Amino acid sequence: MDARVIFNLGGWSAQRLERVEQALSDWVVADAPAGLGEAMRYAVLDGGKRLRPLLVLAASEAVDGNPRAALRAGCAVELIHAYSLVHDDMPCMDNDILRRGKPTVHVKFGQAQALLAGDALQALAFELLTPDGTDVPPAVQASLCRLLARAAGHAGMAGGQAIDLAAVGRALGESELREMHRRKTGALLQGSVMMGAACGSTDEAAQAALGRYGAAVGLAFQVVDDILDVTADSATLGKTAGKDAAQDKPTYVSLLGLERSRAFSRELLAQARQALAESGLADTLALQALAMMVVNRDN
Ligand code: IPE
Ligand code: IPE
Ligand code: MG
Ligand code: MG
Ligand code: MG
Repeated sequence: MDARVIFNLGGWSAQRLERVEQALSDWVVADAPAGLGEAMRYAVLDGGKRLRPLLVLAASEAVDGNPRAALRAGCAVELIHAYSLVHDDMPCMDNDILRRGKPTVHVKFGQAQALLAGDALQALAFELLTPDGTDVPPAVQASLCRLLARAAGHAGMAGGQAIDLAAVGRALGESELREMHRRKTGALLQGSVMMGAACGSTDEAAQAALGRYGAAVGLAFQVVDDILDVTADSATLGKTAGKDAAQDKPTYVSLLGLERSRAFSRELLAQARQALAESGLADTLALQALAMMVVNRDN
């Protein structure tokens, strides 16, 4: 049965998004020196779909995880994501002027402040994961830090971004392109799912199934990002449309064309749903609905 028929993602998300927005606003303080706090808050607040925090919360709920740990984990991933966007938009990378419907951070605050805002957001993410007190048991803190570090660093986002920059003007084969997408975008999305899972307890089979779900959703996400860059307009996206072709970036659309890229995203959705079915977890409706949202979204 279609998950949309039996699960109200809008209703489920609304309550969680409220908690995430409030927590981000509380935790990303404005009092960093010399305008840095203002740039950090500008990068994080007022915009973004918050898909990664929602994946963390949904995975945590599926394994009956600790909600305080999951809220911290969701916000930490979002801070890493926001930092990656600030740097991705800088002139030395994609040179974009529009993000989340607003001028990019370097346009508004200058390149040096954008660099520092990204640096500070990355550090703050790990501070959020290691609170004093008993909110998050030390072993869970350590797991969350390890998962996030792995997803953000050379094995994940930063490594994928390096491949992306090195690939400008080159035609990549499917396996190279998949590897680039897996790292630059997929790793943080899969990491979100695994961090949610780390907030509770899972058996090995469920853990592996969630890993497969996260990998499929993560790759699907970037395939759809490539599609939307071609098919959507800048107002809908909140970022400049058409820039992959303009900058001669290898994408799924440049490799397979639109129709086969769409078909591939639907195949990845089927893989994600299959993984959930194999997880043995009792309630994966939110995870299922989020996967459908990733593939069917229009921004
Ligand atoms: C955009 O991510 C950047 C990529 C990783 C492709 P999102 O589409 O999740 O951006 P926001 O958070 O909603 O702005
Ligand atoms: C960026 O991919 C992935 C990141 C790690 C930020 P893109 O360069 O395609 O993201 P957009 O299209 O600018 O959001
Ligand atoms: Mg980029
Ligand atoms: Mg970009
Ligand atoms: Mg893109």
